[in-house]
Amino acid sequence: MIGWSADFIRRVLDKAPEGVVVCEARGGEQPVVYVNDYFQQLTGYTAAELLGTDLRRLQGGDRDQPGRERLRRAMQAGTAGRALLRNYRKDGRLFLNDVLIEPVHDDGGRLTHFVGFHREFAIQNPRATPQGVPAPAPAPAAAPAAAPWQREDALTGLLAREHFMELLRLQWALGQRELRAVTLLMFDIKGLGQYNRSAGQSGGDAAIRRIAGLLTSAFRRGADVIGRWEGGTFCVLAQSAEMAPTVAHARAVVQRVIDLQIDFPLSPRGEVLTLSGGAARLMPGDGVTVDTLLMLAQRALDAARAEPESRVMVASAESCGQSSVSLD
Ligand SMILES: Cc1cc2nc3c(=O)[nH]c(=O)nc-3n(C[C@H](O)[C@H](O)[C@H](O)COP(=O)(O)O)c2cc1C
Repeated sequence: MIGWSADFIRRVLDKAPEGVVVCEARGGEQPVVYVNDYFQQLTGYTAAELLGTDLRRLQGGDRDQPGRERLRRAMQAGTAGRALLRNYRKDGRLFLNDVLIEPVHDDGGRLTHFVGFHREFAIQNPRATPQGVPAPAPAPAAAPAAAPWQREDALTGLLAREHFMELLRLQWALGQRELRAVTLLMFDIKGLGQYNRSAGQSGGDAAIRRIAGLLTSAFRRGADVIGRWEGGTFCVLAQSAEMAPTVAHARAVVQRVIDLQIDFPLSPRGEVLTLSGGAARLMPGDGVTVDTLLMLAQRALDAARAEPESRVMVASAESCGQSSVSLD
């Protein structure tokens, strides 16, 4: 490493398969002092346009983002932080910026800079890259140690609820811009509490893991996003042009869970573990928020839970605030 010039290090960083940015750690402002080639291609801004500015400019007027708060808190604490942010390229196009920042200290241990690593996150293809930029190297097989910004649920490996919600909000914002409806599915293991009483906590956890694995393969259609909501409840952000095939697929998935034949001797019906499902689809627009979509999907799931049989119910919004749940 001795003798490496700044120019050489620059050339190396310009080969990086993701955006690399260095900012000074200066109170409330973090002026950019370095950006690599990838970051310039990602954002459409040149280095000259970015140097000396704060990267919050990439948010434009779109400032109501929980990820922004998280980055700010990490910076105040001088720790690493990660967030998925809605950012805008120079030409105004929205993109989802997967930002990881790390503190950098001088020899005396004083915080002097933050380095940022940036990737475009596309819901259609999480490994998508900006046009003309080589695809990033595959992630290492070994899982990194748990970090405060951990995005995965420890038991199932599915997205943690908070991160799922972040993606749902982002998808909602994209839907609003592109006039695209958003489809949310929720599944719940029927009688999990009772199952835990007979199979024990570890038996219940094993069942949750197995069902999560099945959901992962069933919805791994390139674009769907799956999370663990809580306990035995799962959520799926389904990419679909129409509701009917999505609901048919959800019903087929429930049948596949039944086919796993996970023994549930003390179930009220003396059968095997199964799922209830709820589905809702909404077009983002005036007066309709992502909370309305969540409320509808949960209402459909609650209606399905109340049925003795395993069902997938669909909620539809007749008008704002009004909903009906149909059996079919
Ligand atoms: C190294 C580094 C990289 C950053 N990269 C981005 C970025 O790409 N997009 C963005 O919106 N914010 C980015 N930020 C965060 C903003 O600069 C800002 O700190 C954040 O929006 C919180 O501050 P605010 O609440 O004043 O906006 C980055 C911050 C640092 C330190």
